[in-house]
Amino acid sequence: MTTIKVQADQPGAKINPAMWGIFFEDINFGADGGLYAELVKNRAFEFPDPLMGWIKVSPSHARGEISVRDGGPFAPTNSHFVRIQSEGTAPFGISNEGFRGMGVRRGEAYHFSAQIRGMTGSPVLLVQLYGADGSLLDSVPLGGFSLNWKKCTATLRPNDTDAKARLALLVEGKGTVDLAMVSLFPEKTWKNRPGGLRADMVQLLADLKPGFLRFPGGCIVEGSVLERRYQWKNTLGPVEDRQLLINRWNYEFLHRPAPDYFQSFGLGFFEFFQLCDDIGAEPLPILNCGMACQFNSGELVPLDELEPYIQDALDLIEFANGPAASPWGARRTAMGHPEPFHLKMLGVGNEQWGPQYIERLARFVKVLKEKHPEIALVASAGPLPADERFQFLWPKFRELKMDIVDEHCYAPPLWFLANSRRYDHYDRSGPKVFFGEYAAQSVAMVSVKNRNNLECALAEAAYLTGLERNADVVRMASYAPLFAHVEGWQWTPNLIWTDNLRVYGTPNYYVQQLFSLNRGDVVLPVTLTGVELPARPGGHIGLGTHQTAAEFKDVQVTRDGQTLLSSRFTDGTPGWSVERGNWSVKDGAFQQADPKASGLVLAGEVSWSDYTLSLKARKLAGAEGFAVMVRYEGPENHVVWNLGGYENRIHGIQARWAQQDHLVAQVPGSIETGRWYDVKIELKGAKLDCYLDGKLIQSAEVPPPQVQQLYASAVRDEKAGELILKVVNPGDAAGEAQIHLDGLTSVAPEVKAVTLASASPGDVNSLDHPLAVAPVESIFKIAGLRFDHRFPKHSMTVLRIKTQ
Ligand code: AHR
Repeated sequence: MTTIKVQADQPGAKINPAMWGIFFEDINFGADGGLYAELVKNRAFEFPDPLMGWIKVSPSHARGEISVRDGGPFAPTNSHFVRIQSEGTAPFGISNEGFRGMGVRRGEAYHFSAQIRGMTGSPVLLVQLYGADGSLLDSVPLGGFSLNWKKCTATLRPNDTDAKARLALLVEGKGTVDLAMVSLFPEKTWKNRPGGLRADMVQLLADLKPGFLRFPGGCIVEGSVLERRYQWKNTLGPVEDRQLLINRWNYEFLHRPAPDYFQSFGLGFFEFFQLCDDIGAEPLPILNCGMACQFNSGELVPLDELEPYIQDALDLIEFANGPAASPWGARRTAMGHPEPFHLKMLGVGNEQWGPQYIERLARFVKVLKEKHPEIALVASAGPLPADERFQFLWPKFRELKMDIVDEHCYAPPLWFLANSRRYDHYDRSGPKVFFGEYAAQSVAMVSVKNRNNLECALAEAAYLTGLERNADVVRMASYAPLFAHVEGWQWTPNLIWTDNLRVYGTPNYYVQQLFSLNRGDVVLPVTLTGVELPARPGGHIGLGTHQTAAEFKDVQVTRDGQTLLSSRFTDGTPGWSVERGNWSVKDGAFQQADPKASGLVLAGEVSWSDYTLSLKARKLAGAEGFAVMVRYEGPENHVVWNLGGYENRIHGIQARWAQQDHLVAQVPGSIETGRWYDVKIELKGAKLDCYLDGKLIQSAEVPPPQVQQLYASAVRDEKAGELILKVVNPGDAAGEAQIHLDGLTSVAPEVKAVTLASASPGDVNSLDHPLAVAPVESIFKIAGLRFDHRFPKHSMTVLRIKTQ
């Protein structure tokens, strides 16, 4: 019988009130075309193709000319405008398609504005909304233009709801009209702010009661080159002064190009702080550290030119917290917020790695800690949760006495299920952890086939129980990315999906919400018994190379005195399969001859365990040494002894579980070309002893991914006087458990249960069925401090038990 024991009288760590937060990045049309409610795309004609998003509207008997000009703009920062010259034979002009259409609702007000001047004649400008089927939704005439630019406005009230409307601007009568900065905003924005944010999207954020809001990303912080990095100072002031930037997600993925994706910065840093205020989230800005994205150019700011980047950080702190009389506090005040924004945390760099990052980070830390010791600084631990970059960075962060380290992980559900104990053994005295970007990938990272299904959501939930149990180490966590437009996404999965009128939370969203709304104040110890599912440390053997040519001979696998495999390669390679590389047998050795290839051959059975593998190996040419694989279950799950890895600098024991590389142990070491080495690996259970030329070089415990039938964590909500127990059952059978509430004398007989469940792990929500997988509340009775409960298959359950 499974038991879940909660030690209710032994409260542990305090839970950070800002523990469960959100990560915002302008990806998947998350800002322009998403949260930022502007309906006109390329409103200032500043895209490189100045008429992108616009078309000429010229009915058959209309005569005229459309031209894009840049002499005499209405503002120096907005150099382009459009001239419509009509001969007056019929209404003639331009039309904007919006962001995959414009979402408008019947009877609601939409505020049009544009800078307009009349150059010849005295024509009328018809401002019109058309539905997707071509029906006219509303039309307002504007006129009386002068030779000087003037902001003209009109209010449109569509007679129908349409998710794919478009805006037309038609000159009626003979004459010439110039147009710039054309805008259309719903009146009903979040808090009805003119030029504000989409209310329905913000509402979903507010409903999460997020502890913090990380902004503006993500890779967008870094830019593919430094020139295109995110610069917060360019996002302040009147929107027409905010200079457009190409969005890095415009061109990042060949398979999902988005040529019309730009950043108008209508949602800039002021709006970010304001949004944090609105939804009660701590602001967590992330700034560029003097490095462009290392997946792209990796461009570096020379160390002696880093000062402006550090100054940007100092100025941002002043913009957020400085008195109204300070230069940047005055900018904030001028934008309408004399009170400070109470910034307490700041991130320096997103997904950076290597010594170059540490050198730059150290300079930021020195200045910021001296001038602003009150600000907690966040460093990035790179893109993956356990690889060699990650292993390199963590000790450096300890030396730098970083406050918080931002760890990321995008991996299949198995990784999350097998890592719920990741933080049980973390150093309690070092920097705290911000699990700042994560999402279970139903297929693989960056696969377009990933789905926001229940299976992934429950794997995340199982993992989050581990974060909650370790709230003394883990300060914060956020899922990523946040938003995606169903027709405009580059990346999947995402927490919230939208079209132009609708929005829905995924099962992953509801998991986040269940943690956030049931956060509690202190952790209570939980012990689970009888939940571990069998995990067997076994699998095939393999021989491999990474950008190196090498050969192998005299391969032997033995177990308990029995020979499981003996390959001398005198009669070919029976029992071996070539996975990749250029392999052939030469002089009794199995050779991978291509020095640029990553080669792999396999032999044996997946059922093999506790064996000893011995062989001879010789490097022939190339950058590294050779790799010997054991416990190979598949490309996503295996263990490697990598000899002369990482440019022939290190011997490393590496595990690859659930598509993630973990560098488990490393010693300095290299492999000489042309020399035969004796290699031996002894497997005993989960332990590996690795020998080179008869000498033990390294050993490690490499437990196989351990999955549980149930996962649980418990907290106490002091104000409500409640014990909150979260239990996740990701499997396909109901989980019966006996629950022990130890250390209490009595509890209220009625327990509130909130359950997120569905029939199949593949179940998802959608625009048409937004609540197909959503939490359901119920009440049940218990007789005392021990009771049985059935946790449905594929479920997360929150039990709230009154203890006072
Ligand atoms: O969340 C999407 C991207 O994933 C982020 O921009 C980046 O930080 C990570 O690689």
